[in-house]
Amino acid sequence: MQLFENQNLKAYNTFGMEVFARQFIQMENADEIPTIINDYLKREPYYILGGGSNTLFTKDFDGIVAHPAFGGIEVKERTYDNVLLRVAAGEPWDNLIQYCIRHEYFGIENLTAIPGLVGSAPVQNIGAYGVEVKDTLYKVEGFRISTGEPFELMNADCQFSYRNSIFKQALKNDCIITYVWFQLSIKEHFTLSYQGLANAMAERELPMKLRYVSECVRKIRDAKLPDPKIVGNGGSFFKNPVISSEEYEDLKSQYPDLIAYDAPDGQKKLSAGQLIEKAGWKGKRMGNAGTWKNQALVLVNYGNATPKEVLDTAETIVKDVNSLFNITLEMEINRI
Ligand code: EPU
Repeated sequence: MQLFENQNLKAYNTFGMEVFARQFIQMENADEIPTIINDYLKREPYYILGGGSNTLFTKDFDGIVAHPAFGGIEVKERTYDNVLLRVAAGEPWDNLIQYCIRHEYFGIENLTAIPGLVGSAPVQNIGAYGVEVKDTLYKVEGFRISTGEPFELMNADCQFSYRNSIFKQALKNDCIITYVWFQLSIKEHFTLSYQGLANAMAERELPMKLRYVSECVRKIRDAKLPDPKIVGNGGSFFKNPVISSEEYEDLKSQYPDLIAYDAPDGQKKLSAGQLIEKAGWKGKRMGNAGTWKNQALVLVNYGNATPKEVLDTAETIVKDVNSLFNITLEMEINRI
């Protein structure tokens, strides 16, 4: 491990917030984690930070930020149909995608170009273009911070749902994920339920190959989402709200073009981006913060935004959407 004092976190969060952590531990392998828990995390406030692509730091962190810096992808088993991969928490997510494309492993190509590290993927069950990480995740390994003991959770135990898991609920702030296992298909298999992806493949008349699907996803993302290396952002800032079918019918009569997807238990999931756009917030700025011109659900740092500017913007959006639709948007991003 490496320990740093008064660490600037600007390069460790894609929103580009300039905040400082009193201490910062780079975890360099999984074996040292019980010692790190015992000697440091049990004594101080702590935060486990992956790639910082879903975290909004709102102030300096008066404690220890611990960051997994160990990567690696290992094939654990290969059968006629499937391959089982064990991937270390510090591996950048998109490296795993590239690896799977090279080896022709099917199942996560729709999650191309999602920023962040593999260890964070199960926490909020990352998802895009018709696929969620829960669809191919086999199990999660890690350590409980309260006990220092190792754990293994199989997919069914992780309580995955839309942008949610046990790691955001009962085990919130009590886990250091060390390895994520994926079961991927060796046989050709694509998910083209997201119309935009199916259309993009058809328009470009591309053969159904892993690398072309992945390329198409990257193009769609590039067109809609700002590159965090250029414009600070944390992806979708809010969750898409889920409402009852009665509420949906009521709103639909006022806004006939309202977009909705079927959600569990007969409910409807609306597009937060559309609601924000209708509230007049697409591409709008308030000081140095605002929403992205091509996707209103993404709040961006237009340059040197302070956490307060981002939060004030978010609050104003929530208020404006609420007064129009009577729906309260919930933050998707982790606020620290
Ligand atoms: N829309 C608008 N205005 C906007 C943005 C979107 O009208 O400003 C409309 C779009 O035209 C589309 C619908 O809303 O008809 C949905 O938009 P999109 O397909 O871009 O997806 P989303 O629901 O806004 C979700 C995820 C994204 C993921 C995409 C693609 C959440 C909170 N976000 O966004 O995930 O990439 O679907 O599957 O569920 C993330 O979590 O950080 C993220 C980027």
